[in-house]
Amino acid sequence: MTKDTIFQKTDCPDEFTFNRQVVEVFDDMLERSIPGYHQTTGMISDLLRHFCRPGERVYDLGCSTGTTLLELARQLSEMNLVFFGLDSSAAMIEKAQLKARMLSRKQNVNFLELDILAAELDECGAVLLNYTLQFLRPPLRPRFLKKVYAALRPGGILIVCEKVISHRPVINRAYINLYLDFKRRQGYSETEIAKKREALENILVPFSIHENLDLIKESGFTETESFFQWFNFVSFLSIKK
Ligand SMILES: C[S@@+](CC[C@H](N)C(=O)[O-])C[C@H]1O[C@@H](n2cnc3c(N)ncnc32)[C@H](O)[C@@H]1O
Repeated sequence: MTKDTIFQKTDCPDEFTFNRQVVEVFDDMLERSIPGYHQTTGMISDLLRHFCRPGERVYDLGCSTGTTLLELARQLSEMNLVFFGLDSSAAMIEKAQLKARMLSRKQNVNFLELDILAAELDECGAVLLNYTLQFLRPPLRPRFLKKVYAALRPGGILIVCEKVISHRPVINRAYINLYLDFKRRQGYSETEIAKKREALENILVPFSIHENLDLIKESGFTETESFFQWFNFVSFLSIKK
């Protein structure tokens, strides 16, 4: 895994994009930037085993290099689920396809270069939105989630993992500081942390827990609970009735 040193460089990008340079170091970036990343994958695997029917379709929207889907395909091989990973970054999809070939998972794991806002979704048992919703422009989120709701069969599940904010300033500040400590422990320098934060300004737009819950509810889901939280990182499970 190539180490993420993008924001150590003097010519680092002013604005964050999921380009080739990011893809090269992305798996390391995820591990060092998302608390509980592997733990939540394990929990998602348990949820899919519980709620999905053998052989049905599972989408990962904004799948990046396919890390989550490939791990789920490994853990859930006995269920014969058909996985579709969609991402609009050509470089991400190329890397995901390469990893699928290397792991011999091409039969039931498909990676497609598509804009998830425009893509048509077929009927499915589960949709994963792991740290992707936060990158969609807020006005586009309600219509997009309604499309996801429509694609799920009754009893199917939506998983949303997001970085969140709190509108309670003292708690918000505390969570931000605890997250900065986490990044320092992962070996990121003060400069790298500050530069990446600037580059993500207005690109990653986090909602609060309540704003996310309202958004999910307005899309049609009446049953939602969180199943994981690490300060400002939360995972939600919703069921289509
Ligand atoms: C933080 S990454 C997601 C991480 C990934 N889900 C995981 O858990 O490993 C966000 C991804 O969303 C993708 N993305 C953002 N907007 C998109 C869109 N409109 N259509 C498709 N993919 C999009 C980006 O290219 C990027 O790969």
